[in-house]
Amino acid sequence: MVSTALSHVYPLGSRLDERGRLQLGGCDAIELAREFGTPAYVVVEDDLRARARAFVAALAAQHGDGEVVFASKAFPCTAVLELFAAEGLMCDVASAGELHLALNAGFAPERIVVHGNARDDAELAGALARRVGLIVVDNFDDIDRLERLTSGRRDRDRQDVLVRVTPGVAGETHASISTGQPDSKFGLGVADARGAIERLEAAPGLRLLGLHMHIGSQLLDLAPFRAATEVLATLGDFPVYDLGGGLGVAYSDSDEPPSVDDYVAAQVDAVRELIGPGKRILLEPGRALVANAGVTLYSVVSVKRNVSTWVGVDGGMSDNLRPMLYGSHYEAQIADRFGDATSCHVTGKHCESGDVIVRDARLQEPRSGDVLVTPATGAYGHAMANNYNGVPRPPVVFVSEGEARVVVRRETVEELTARDVR
Ligand code: LLP
Repeated sequence: MVSTALSHVYPLGSRLDERGRLQLGGCDAIELAREFGTPAYVVVEDDLRARARAFVAALAAQHGDGEVVFASKAFPCTAVLELFAAEGLMCDVASAGELHLALNAGFAPERIVVHGNARDDAELAGALARRVGLIVVDNFDDIDRLERLTSGRRDRDRQDVLVRVTPGVAGETHASISTGQPDSKFGLGVADARGAIERLEAAPGLRLLGLHMHIGSQLLDLAPFRAATEVLATLGDFPVYDLGGGLGVAYSDSDEPPSVDDYVAAQVDAVRELIGPGKRILLEPGRALVANAGVTLYSVVSVKRNVSTWVGVDGGMSDNLRPMLYGSHYEAQIADRFGDATSCHVTGKHCESGDVIVRDARLQEPRSGDVLVTPATGAYGHAMANNYNGVPRPPVVFVSEGEARVVVRRETVEELTARDVR
């Protein structure tokens, strides 16, 4: 058997070696499982870099005046943030905690964009005090607070802001991650946005630079982006347009998401053609920068046959909530025995029947002790990990050129009681 390259669902450079064993970033997956334990998130550093560079290069080539802003919610991990800061990206944060992570990882405050639909005085005051680059205004309470908190600021001391517009265009995706529809908790519809623009233009401590939109996540069709920009165009002419994230990724071998080049072209062409030339364009990819860079390694701990075959692994909805929240489908394979002989469900260890990581997986004769891999878990996996059933959260292991290093260690059971007050 010769070494085989794997599909685009796996991190760049992943392959099966001549023994049929999964290699990630030059490291053997079974060895990684042995050394770092399971479950573990394994992230291929070169993949993160390559995707960041692809976005930066596409935007530079197609527009010139723009920035790629990592939506840190997709993988809020210091090592990932440091890597993207070093690649010259900006960072989007959606809470005081994410702001802390971004600053701690070395993003300059002026390279941070702050979001949120329910921010109290303290959260906005914290962002203002740190002199972040942009605060995105979501609602009129934000404006009340920002006016009050910046009332003493003038001229160069003013805070730059954008208005988040809900364009009434929904991308086709799961309802929980669709945000552009008129009945959304995010942003302001066109009529309200006009009112917000008027107020912000009159606020002495604030400088309105432009508009923001984010119509949804895991979008595989580019048409809604243009339709949404058409709505932004009705609101006037501003120097800055932040078009949000949303570019979908491949979770299954058969998914064919648009390329980064096509996505960037669709966004910048829409702004140029529908709004005008010379605009500064910000794009906020989250998932598309990190999803396929990461996989999760599990150990198979039980195999049961009744109506179906149930392959039980040592993680589940505590390390990947996406199948349960959004019905997302993942691929799974045994790390040293890729194949499809057995039709089965890969389940987690949690105390509910919904804890199914992959329904209708096809594995090659799974048995206890196998290492099982689910690819494309880099986005919103670590981000949404939790301690349901007292399960400690997995480590994050970076791999590159045959070397592996832990960048977030495994949580311990002792940490589960660390916040107790007796
Ligand atoms: N910008 C804003 C303002 C956002 O709200 C989001 C995602 C992004 C950028 C990045 O979107 P992306 O490029 O990753 O699609 N937990 C869900 C995803 C929620 C996304 C929320 N906002 C999931 O696991 O699918």
